[in-house]
Amino acid sequence: MPAQQKALFLQAKHGHFVVGTREVPAPAAGEVLVKVEATALNPVDWKIQKYGGFITDYPAVLGEDAAGIVEEVGEGVTSFKKGDRVIFQGRLDNDHATYQQYTLITAELVSKLPSQFSFDQGVTIPLGLSTAALGLYNVKSVDKSAALSPPWEEGGRGKYAATPIVVMGGSSAVGQFVLQLAKLSGFSPIITTASPRNAAQLTALGATHVLDRHLAPDVLSAEINIGYDVLMPGGKLLITLGDAVDESKKAEGRTVVNVLGMVQLPFNVAVGASLFSKLFGLLEEGAVKPLHFEVLPHGLKGIAGGLKRLENDQVSARKLVVHPQDAA
Ligand SMILES: NC(=O)c1ccc[n+]([C@@H]2O[C@H](COP(=O)([O-])OP(=O)(O)OC[C@H]3O[C@@H](n4cnc5c(N)ncnc54)[C@H](OP(=O)(O)O)[C@@H]3O)[C@@H](O)[C@H]2O)c1
Repeated sequence: MPAQQKALFLQAKHGHFVVGTREVPAPAAGEVLVKVEATALNPVDWKIQKYGGFITDYPAVLGEDAAGIVEEVGEGVTSFKKGDRVIFQGRLDNDHATYQQYTLITAELVSKLPSQFSFDQGVTIPLGLSTAALGLYNVKSVDKSAALSPPWEEGGRGKYAATPIVVMGGSSAVGQFVLQLAKLSGFSPIITTASPRNAAQLTALGATHVLDRHLAPDVLSAEINIGYDVLMPGGKLLITLGDAVDESKKAEGRTVVNVLGMVQLPFNVAVGASLFSKLFGLLEEGAVKPLHFEVLPHGLKGIAGGLKRLENDQVSARKLVVHPQDAA
């Protein structure tokens, strides 16, 4: 293993992305060091560059999705060994982010990747699935989750049979995992909005009805208000962006829940660990499926252009994937 690695740095707040060199970090007790074979792009990274949130120390390494090979395990780790193929969600600090060739992760938040899936397929899963799962099933955090019973735990499969669910933006990465989890939970009907070209893809994941999202008002606040208006008494609106629901509309018994999809946050770890401990089995049986993807050329250098495409809404129903080991 080399002592140095290539990483993509956001040089300063609102600055540029530049490929540079940093040390390969050593795993602390309970952590594993992973050689990142594939990372996937997420909207939060262009938002960090543009708006400056989340990060205080620069230059900063971003990136929250990884698939790769365990290189070294820290003290006390028995569940993984060098050479295991794994997937996990990265964290926004330089030793744990994923836009680099090697990164660290707490072992309890790692899943092995079944051999029938490529790293490119595997890396489409962690952040999207985690966000969907935490929004629906974080029983430890009722103010940030619908706190339903997870379908990957005993007695959870099919538990919400005949309960309707509406998924706004079902072709987004998070939305596609909400559809899959809703199906596992038994929800029916599963109604979603997306561009019509993605209808078959979403039906295959569990949607029973795909509505053209362009038929609805396309400004965000209006769309969220529509989401709120379809809630039944006692229903919950889960949102991954700011709460734009008109205050005058908020009636008792219908709730807006702000989801925070970072699995490593203290109030998310328990459910995250439960999910990642079962993920290998869910993938093997086909209960959770990877998303469609497109591999970007030029390794880490390809990320900045990919993030621009995400920002410009030029990516539909697929993850953009990068290979950090490719020569930058
Ligand atoms: N709070 C959190 O922790 C958290 C976690 C993850 C993501 N997020 C946020 O959630 C959003 C989705 O993230 P993602 O990674 O799933 O995104 P993504 O996969 O990049 O989303 C792309 C999809 O969004 C759809 N879309 C674009 N504008 C839309 C609109 N106005 N209404 C409905 N759908 C729309 C497009 O659908 P069509 O191509 O079918 O038209 C496209 O397929 C982002 O804003 C992200 O920052 C928040």
